[in-house]
Amino acid sequence: MSSDWDFIYEFGGRHGAKESDVVSIYHDAMDYPFRKQMHQQGPLDYQDMVFAITRILMPNFVVETGVRHGVCSSFILAALAQNGLGQLDSCDPMWSSQEEACRRIHELICTPVDLFDRWSFYPMMSSTHFHDPDWLADVVMPRGVDLFVHDSDHGFGNMMWELEWALEHCNKGGVIICDDWDWQENEELEKHADGNVVRQFCAGHRLTFSTIGTAAVIEL
Ligand SMILES: C[S@@+](CC[C@H](N)C(=O)[O-])C[C@H]1O[C@@H](n2cnc3c(N)ncnc32)[C@H](O)[C@@H]1O
Repeated sequence: MSSDWDFIYEFGGRHGAKESDVVSIYHDAMDYPFRKQMHQQGPLDYQDMVFAITRILMPNFVVETGVRHGVCSSFILAALAQNGLGQLDSCDPMWSSQEEACRRIHELICTPVDLFDRWSFYPMMSSTHFHDPDWLADVVMPRGVDLFVHDSDHGFGNMMWELEWALEHCNKGGVIICDDWDWQENEELEKHADGNVVRQFCAGHRLTFSTIGTAAVIEL
C-alpha cells in the first residue's frame, strides 16, 4: 500500500469507516477486472484514491470535469455501483455524445456497460455545462453536490472558476478533489504569475487541503 492510503485511513476515520472497511476497499480497487486495461492509460494511484473516497463518502451526487478515456469516471462509477447509491455527471468536449463516450470508453478500457447506468455525460466544456439553467434547476439545486472532481483544463482561470462553482454548489461535508493541483508550479511554460490556484482558493475561503499523489483533496 502506498503512503496515500494513510490519508484514506484518516479520511475513513473522519467519515465513520472502520479500518477493516478501508482494507476491503483497497482490495476491491486492486482486484478490479478491468484494472489491467485501465493501467495501459497510466498509473492508477490517483484513480484508486478517488475510488476509495467515493466508497467511503457514499455520495448521492458527483460532478466531474475532464473525462478523456474515462479512467477516473470508471473508477467513480464502479464505486457508486458498489455503494448501490449515487449518480455521476461528467463533462468533456472530447466526445460528441453520451452514446459515443460510453462506446469508446468500453472499447478503450473495458468498462462494463452496466456501470454507465449511473452516468450522465455532457459533451461540452464546464464553462458551458455549469451555466445550463435546466441542469442547475432540475439536477444540481435539488440535491447539491457531494463530491466534485476537477481534471479538465488546469489553467488558472478555468481551475479557479470550477473550484468556486464547486464550493457554491457542494453540500456541507462535501469533498473537492483536484487532480494535478500543483500543475502551475511544475509546468514551467505555463507557470502562472498569480501562483497556485488551490493554495489561493483555500486561503481565500479559510479551507485546508491534503495532497494524495497528484491530487489535492479539500474537505468542506
Ligand atoms: C487530463 S484529461 C482527463 C483525464 C481523466 N480524468 C482520466 O482519469 O482519464 C483532461 C480532459 O479535460 C478535457 N477538458 C479540457 N478543458 C475542459 C473544460 N473546460 N471542461 C471540461 N473538460 C475539459 C479535455 O478534453 C481532456 O479530455
